[in-house]
Amino acid sequence: MAPSDRTRFAPNSAAARDIEYYLHPYTNLKVHEENGPLIINSGKGVFVYDDQGKEYIEGMAGLWCTSLGYGEERLAKAAYDQLLQMSYTQGFTHRSNETAINLAEKLISIAPEGMRKVFFTNSGSEANDTQVKIVWYYNNTLGRPEKKKIIGRKKAYHGITLAASSLTGVEYAQKGFDVPLDRFLHVSPAHYWRDGQDGESEEEYATRLANELDQMIEAEGPETVAAFIAEPVMGAGGAIPPPKTYFAKIQAVLKKHEVLFIADEVITGFGRTGNMFACETYDLKPDLMSVAKALSSAYLPIGGVMMTDEIYQVLRDGGDKYGMWNTGYTYSGHPASAAVALETLTIYEERDTIGHVRAVTPTFQAGLQSFADHPLVGEVRGVGLVGAIELCPDKENKGAFDPAAKVAPYLVARAHEYGVILRALPSDGVAFCPPLIISEDEIGMVMERAGKALEDTWAYVHMEGLV
Ligand SMILES: Cc1ncc(COP(=O)(O)O)c(C=O)c1O
Repeated sequence: MAPSDRTRFAPNSAAARDIEYYLHPYTNLKVHEENGPLIINSGKGVFVYDDQGKEYIEGMAGLWCTSLGYGEERLAKAAYDQLLQMSYTQGFTHRSNETAINLAEKLISIAPEGMRKVFFTNSGSEANDTQVKIVWYYNNTLGRPEKKKIIGRKKAYHGITLAASSLTGVEYAQKGFDVPLDRFLHVSPAHYWRDGQDGESEEEYATRLANELDQMIEAEGPETVAAFIAEPVMGAGGAIPPPKTYFAKIQAVLKKHEVLFIADEVITGFGRTGNMFACETYDLKPDLMSVAKALSSAYLPIGGVMMTDEIYQVLRDGGDKYGMWNTGYTYSGHPASAAVALETLTIYEERDTIGHVRAVTPTFQAGLQSFADHPLVGEVRGVGLVGAIELCPDKENKGAFDPAAKVAPYLVARAHEYGVILRALPSDGVAFCPPLIISEDEIGMVMERAGKALEDTWAYVHMEGLV
């Protein structure tokens, strides 16, 4: 019996065919066969519409990516024009196309100081996978074949290719897949509200985490540790901004041991925190950066690795040993993706998107803070246009619900009913990450709908005896 025959969906409906043929990413396959998909076929501005015509505010910008919202004609036209003129040119063996060249130049012109070259990928995972290859090639070229371990953080999300999911620290992305691979290590995440000890200041907590990293590098042997990777604001692990002084202390440890710093700006890049890059927001000086998502406002897939001149010079010298820089994707620097990315960056500048983010941030953050006194909300956190509320059964003791009770997923489901898309995170966090173009009125709508969902969740936890 085909799965669609077992569902309540009409034969041959889109939902039935989805269940029958489409293996979804990150989906509970059995539940999907029962419940079917949410099919979203159109969007305009910050709104999307499902196949029943129901309207939602995209409070998560898709997967933290649709920065310019939906239906932006200029981006569609940029792709169309480029595809007509030249649909594909490879980047291998000295071939190039002017659109990718323009994009590389533009990216370096807006990147944090010190970034010198861009390597193009199709996604954030590929960018982080490439980071691993760069770091290993770099140390092989320098004659340090032992210096290969890479340290990430528990709860971090860096993607799902084999190497990227080894950098990742959320358990759900690793279970069943035999990752992390060897040579990948993880230190504690940085979440002061949840993990700070009684009487410990935020700065003391940051010192403790820097000491943990220092001790791990010492224990492993600095000659074996190549790099450390972090999202400036932890995304899928909780939408958690860093504690005060955290990155300054971490960067000092990395410098001491000659360990490269990779900043994963896949979520934070291109305005999310109120600066072009979160490296500016938190004064980070990475050796390597990963970007994707808002680079093209998710109109076409594209990502990239940016690197300092010091890294580039070693890759260049690697050619003397290995023949050439032998890695790349068929679609690295794809002209259509590059054209859309270039147009996205042009729109950010012309419309002063970062100025807009700064202007509406107080409304957005105040909207989140309006939930802070609710008895179900343990913590409210955020920066720029990203943030989260964390639900907890007793805020005094910062307790946590049994994950099986699915409290945050309940809130997210209720929010859905009220017409706002939010996302449940580990430890019953609920993330908010709207398109960067969101207006003050639309922020008000997000918060109002989320507030109703919070009230429903409060009733639910009582009904279930969870508080
Ligand atoms: C910080 C971060 N890095 C990397 C990735 C992986 O990007 P992709 O899904 O495009 O492979 C993600 C995806 O959400 C992310 O949030």
